[in-house]
Amino acid sequence: MNARPTTPVPPPGCPAHDSGARVPLYGPEFAADPQAYYSYLRSFGPAAPVELAPGVEATLVTDYTAALQLLQDPASFRKDSRRWRAFNEGHVAPDSPVVPLLVYRPNCMFSDGAEHLRLRQAVTDSMARVDSRRVTRITEQVSNYLISQFGSRGSADLLGNYARQLPLFVFNELFGCPADIGDRVLFGISGMFDGVNAEQAAGVLFGAVAELVALKRTRPGDDVTSWLMQHHSKLTDDEMVHQLALLLAAGTEPLGNLIGNTLHRLLTHDAYAHTGGLIDEAIDATLWENPPMSNLAPHYPATDMEFAGQQLRAGDLVMVSFAAANSSPSLAAERQASSRAHLAWSAGSHACPSKDPARQISMAAIENLLNELPDIQLAVPEESLTWRPGPFNRGLVVLPSRFTPIEPARGASPQPQPPVREEQAPQDGRAPERVGRWSQFLNWLTK
Ligand code: HEM
Repeated sequence: MNARPTTPVPPPGCPAHDSGARVPLYGPEFAADPQAYYSYLRSFGPAAPVELAPGVEATLVTDYTAALQLLQDPASFRKDSRRWRAFNEGHVAPDSPVVPLLVYRPNCMFSDGAEHLRLRQAVTDSMARVDSRRVTRITEQVSNYLISQFGSRGSADLLGNYARQLPLFVFNELFGCPADIGDRVLFGISGMFDGVNAEQAAGVLFGAVAELVALKRTRPGDDVTSWLMQHHSKLTDDEMVHQLALLLAAGTEPLGNLIGNTLHRLLTHDAYAHTGGLIDEAIDATLWENPPMSNLAPHYPATDMEFAGQQLRAGDLVMVSFAAANSSPSLAAERQASSRAHLAWSAGSHACPSKDPARQISMAAIENLLNELPDIQLAVPEESLTWRPGPFNRGLVVLPSRFTPIEPARGASPQPQPPVREEQAPQDGRAPERVGRWSQFLNWLTK
């Protein structure tokens, strides 16, 4: 007998059991089994009422076809979040944890029309100048460095010790960060995503990026920062800072999670042997089934309208669930027809402009790790792994691994390294970076 209930039931622990409650996309229950939530949300139709954080309401599109329709209709759905009605009317607490990702900033993500074209072209043209051999080379160098820090231990958290760190180092190099600015970029961006002293960390990050902009105005180099600056879009200093901060934030967090989620897949699916060909396949499968950005693409209807079975008012927050759209029951045929038809990079004019370098960095990072540590395996039962809470990103808390210890590579120390350089005590509100991680890497490289 088919045990499926005829009336869809919210997942266990979901407050939507109390009739009328919006479905929350936060908390440990959602993080533990988001697909159960997406299945339930489908019972509302192609879109459903959700809550992103206490008191922050949104409509979430879960159906693949409806998602494409929204993403490809910039006239009806706008990106500029200064239109966000609930926020403007004071219904959203300014200190809500989801606000920093949604409030307007002068960058390509929050702009529409000609302004979007201008800001985005500066990004796409500058990223296109990045030489792919350089990307692979720097990724391998960073990978070797990170492995050298834990290789002789025979165990590592592949998130904290590897996947989350690697993109930051690679970006520092591609953006042309000198030692002291790079140290503060690493400190600032890690602190923002760790959520500990996020405000102070954001201050450190924006301060460091502003210094980088000032530096490159006088001493341009062969790097993304200088190319953005030289672009015919003629970005102002303010736009430069916000575009760079966007690239760092939109790049490093999902990139770390793409590496982490793919490693998770490789270590938990027996079908994968550790070979180069299958890594590519595992990345695609991860982008389909466990996309690093699960729910995003905030949009605001330009006028009152009916869409995907929901009545929307101008300025309502509407988002797309890339994770739910990818697992739409109607999609099996598309998935077979094209292994890249998923929405993990979004679609339409705001789709990720950096999917090629992002894929290349992930591939090189994973391949190098598996080459260096060929017998690496999960060090804990799979069921004990937990996922970070929150509506936007999908990533593990930790991914403990073990492997046969390897001889430390050049410059490596089996013990935690003493600080190469300590910042002076903060006199201007800046946080001290006790161990300059970027400085350490640069020192290691030149040994
Ligand atoms: C090299 C690393 C990356 C960089 C520099 C980067 C940069 C960006 C930028 C600038 C945007 C905004 C584009 C616009 O609004 O016009 C964006 C959007 C996006 N990126 Fe990436 N990204 C990177 C990696 C990734 C990864 C690994 C993923 C996940 C698979 C990802 C998924 C997305 C998605 C889904 C969007 C659309 C977000 C939205 O519509 O709100 N990106 N990315």
